[in-house]
Amino acid sequence: MTAEAPLPNPLREGLEQERIPEPTTMVIFGASGDLTKRKLLPALYSLTRERLLPARFAVVGYARKPMTDEAFRDEMRKACDEFARRRPVDPELWAAFARNIFYQEGSYDDAASFGALKKRLEEIERAQGLPGNRVYYLSTPPSSFATVVKNLGVSGLVEREAPEAKPSRFARVIIEKPFGVDLGTARRLNADIHETLSEKQIYRIDHYLGKETVQNLLVFRFANGIFEPVWNNRYVDHVQITGAETVGVEGRGGYFEQAGILRDMVQNHLFQVVSLAAMEPPVELAPDAVRDEKLKVLKALRPIPPAEMDAHVVRAQYAAGSVAGRKVPGYREEPAVSPTSQIETYVAMKFFIDSWRWAGVPFYLRSAKRMPKRVTEIAIHFKEAPNLLFGGRRRNAIRPNILAIRIQPDEGISLNFGSKLPGPAMEVAPVTMEFRYGASFGVEPPEAYERLILDCMLGDETLFTRADEVEASWTWISRIHQHWAEQSSAPGAPPLPGYPAGTWGPEAAEQLIAADGRRWRRP
Ligand code: BG6
Repeated sequence: MTAEAPLPNPLREGLEQERIPEPTTMVIFGASGDLTKRKLLPALYSLTRERLLPARFAVVGYARKPMTDEAFRDEMRKACDEFARRRPVDPELWAAFARNIFYQEGSYDDAASFGALKKRLEEIERAQGLPGNRVYYLSTPPSSFATVVKNLGVSGLVEREAPEAKPSRFARVIIEKPFGVDLGTARRLNADIHETLSEKQIYRIDHYLGKETVQNLLVFRFANGIFEPVWNNRYVDHVQITGAETVGVEGRGGYFEQAGILRDMVQNHLFQVVSLAAMEPPVELAPDAVRDEKLKVLKALRPIPPAEMDAHVVRAQYAAGSVAGRKVPGYREEPAVSPTSQIETYVAMKFFIDSWRWAGVPFYLRSAKRMPKRVTEIAIHFKEAPNLLFGGRRRNAIRPNILAIRIQPDEGISLNFGSKLPGPAMEVAPVTMEFRYGASFGVEPPEAYERLILDCMLGDETLFTRADEVEASWTWISRIHQHWAEQSSAPGAPPLPGYPAGTWGPEAAEQLIAADGRRWRRP
């Protein structure tokens, strides 16, 4: 694409040659939206920079807004200057990349627009020598997902592929989140899109699966011999999963009012993390082998009986407070949020996975906005040593071993253990053994979207969620929503607890875990 010499990438040195996708045309529906600017185009630019895109490639933005190719390119250049991993963009590289960017105006629900898109794609592909492999990226409002897929089929832009077929040209569809808002809507959406596409053409994106540290759960567990033998209920006391953010709803109050943190973070991102951490070893690293094992975890989630729901699931909403020394408004004061909103911005829960491996091991999960610190991690708390030789005062210094897998930020893994305190006595002190990505590899990890877009072009579905996984996850989550809905329509419904922004959540969440004689980690 350009005369620039390939960039050195120490991680890849000595590796087998990268797989490079076939020449592809990518169409982005919802091209005038935020995701296109913040994530998708910057990801494509980075892939270009890393020489990971095919030599022939085109991206066509599609949205309702009228715009020329030039205006779209200018907008995307600004976006990449602001959001690309390496910024500002390299002018020479950008010039070559921009020649492959196009824009097509159209609506999501009218056949004529799709007819015009088809004509335009054929022209572009003829001119660029592209064979007609297509990736359609649905970054539209979720209410348009089914309509766009239907119109892709009706207009002949996609053809259903038989499950075992190896077509000469591929047509794949990436679908953004949220995939449904409950079990019913997710099932309907699956049924609707399956009328046009076979499952292997559908790539439901969950950007957490594109994160290096989330993928490392597979490597850490299954490329090392020493962890798997203790990764079960004989040695693990409990597991804590934390998805804490310092941000509020960031101008997305309208969306959040329909979602809440349980839909926004738990049903998808954190349950994907749980399923990778808890699954059995797959028989091979193939898409369905991995997803079959993840699905088993989601299916083994023990339903919480309605009578126990309040003791096992705590929700709350942030009130005004301060985060990192800055005063911030409460959720109800955010734009587009109802002043009487009952939507949760915090959730903490305890659940069990009914499998041989995890029988009796509680999983405690919490996710929230406006926490004092941004941290996503999974912490495996091991049982105490069976027979403690160190009594009395020393006994108090002994902590259970904790293996903490830090997904972000400060990506890494740490193991806490007790060590002898230097000195004449047999004193015990807790210490930490640490691995940090940054220090060990010294390279910046790729953005989640880079990996996922590339995998879709390569036809690798491993890091995309399958229809049955999404439905299994909704099955469990929807019961909680149903309970909350019944609760809030009952007379004398208790008010939603609050927590000041910048604190670790409501007292009820402390009680949830303290009732079992445990406490939340302060990561
Ligand atoms: C998105 C949610 O899917 O994930 C946001 O809609 C959330 O509310 C974001 O902030 C978190 O992603 P990350 O990669 O910043 O952890």
